Amino acid sequence: MTEPSDPQTVVDSHPDWSHIPEHAHHVFLCTGPRCTQRGALQLWKKLRRQLLEHQRIEVPGGVLLTRTHCQFPCNLGPVLTVYPQACWYRVSNEAEAIRLVDVHLVGGEIVEDMLIRERR
Ligand code: FES
Repeated sequence: MTEPSDPQTVVDSHPDWSHIPEHAHHVFLCTGPRCTQRGALQLWKKLRRQLLEHQRIEVPGGVLLTRTHCQFPCNLGPVLTVYPQACWYRVSNEAEAIRLVDVHLVGGEIVEDMLIRERR
């Protein structure tokens, strides 16, 4: 096995990869097994397209969109979290994905009626 410090190991590099990106939002879309069964992969494509339309994907002041494994409130999914606001959303369909981008990620307002409300 090759160690990372081995001079034979070649790791791709780029100057932009040496600093924390200046995104306004970091979005985590769950693509764990239960959220995927509820359409998370289609939502991923819609979110990317919508962010591209607004020129907000992976640019300074834009959005870093990351897929995750299970975030755990599976029964309430598809689950999407937005930081730094720490908002936990249920995004049920493409219309809601568009709304989330337009209202929160572009408009800067939390979409209150899409927030996951826990009942204990
Ligand atoms: S599979 Fe998405 S929260 Fe568990």
